[in-house]
Amino acid sequence: MSARSPILITRKIPGRGVEMLRREFGDVDINPHDRPFTPEELAAEVIGRRGVLCLLSDRIDGHILAAAADCQVFANYAVGYDNIDVPKATRRGVLVANTPGVLTDATADTAWALLMAVARRIIEGDTLVRSGRWTGWKPAELLGADIAGQTLGLVGAGRIGSAVAKRSRGWGMNVLYCEEVRNHQLEAECGATRVEFDVLIRQSDFISIHVPLTEKTRGMFGREQFQAMKESAILVNTSRGLVVDELALVEALRTGEIAGAGLDTYANEPRLAPGLAELDNVVLLPHIGSATIRTRGRMSELAAGAIITALRGGVPQNAVNPEAVEHRGK
Ligand code: GLV
Ligand code: GLV
Repeated sequence: MSARSPILITRKIPGRGVEMLRREFGDVDINPHDRPFTPEELAAEVIGRRGVLCLLSDRIDGHILAAAADCQVFANYAVGYDNIDVPKATRRGVLVANTPGVLTDATADTAWALLMAVARRIIEGDTLVRSGRWTGWKPAELLGADIAGQTLGLVGAGRIGSAVAKRSRGWGMNVLYCEEVRNHQLEAECGATRVEFDVLIRQSDFISIHVPLTEKTRGMFGREQFQAMKESAILVNTSRGLVVDELALVEALRTGEIAGAGLDTYANEPRLAPGLAELDNVVLLPHIGSATIRTRGRMSELAAGAIITALRGGVPQNAVNPEAVEHRGK
């Protein structure tokens, strides 16, 4: 048997990343299937690798980390890295990298696309026209919500949340945000006001979620929060599905507790919560927040660059646990 390539890529990716890795390491192995590896396949595939470029759909848990005994770096092709057990990786001296910065604008655009599509009932309108059932201009057809001058609430005001806020200036919106620390730049640039979460959900017309999935944010939006929101409120989620209790969301949308939702992410992708797809007041995207040609290319370069830097003995700038190197050889 010929020696395994030191590098594994868990799914075919666009952009120059693969070429960069080939130039540095010779051959690289890429998942040949048009689907993620199963956990069993992944556990077998990581054996003997020094670097792995993985996706948000790969669960990198203690079992995989143990199988990847020679691996020094996992580079996640995503900004979110809740799919990786980072504390366990750190204890094993394994660096974890993500792709921050390069997908900020693409993801903020997706949040806005969802916000506008829900507010103005774009998908319902498209469906009506295609169906042949449209009978011509009507004074009260598909009436939606105004965006200009309304209140936008950002749950999380990091890079992406801030980029969503910047775009809202064109609509003259009042911006509220909640974040652990004050974002002075956001306040100066967008006149945003930092408020407590329970104030934000009560006062916002549009709520857009931009927090990572952590133990703190899991299930942050549930029954109680939907009841506190305005009946006219629209929720947009381009972060992680598990930040929202989906069953409670379906119920809130069905009963009119809130007016609508635009979702790019789900708790159990690609499965949907029961009842979600039957609702007219939601717009559902297949997790395409960062899916532009340029962005996915830059993510590829960033992830490949992290593997190259780490295996040359450095600490990539986009490592989320640079302290891992201190645990090496322990
Ligand atoms: C996509 O969801 C990402 O985290 O980059
Ligand atoms: C992620 O890139 C964020 O900080 O919002």
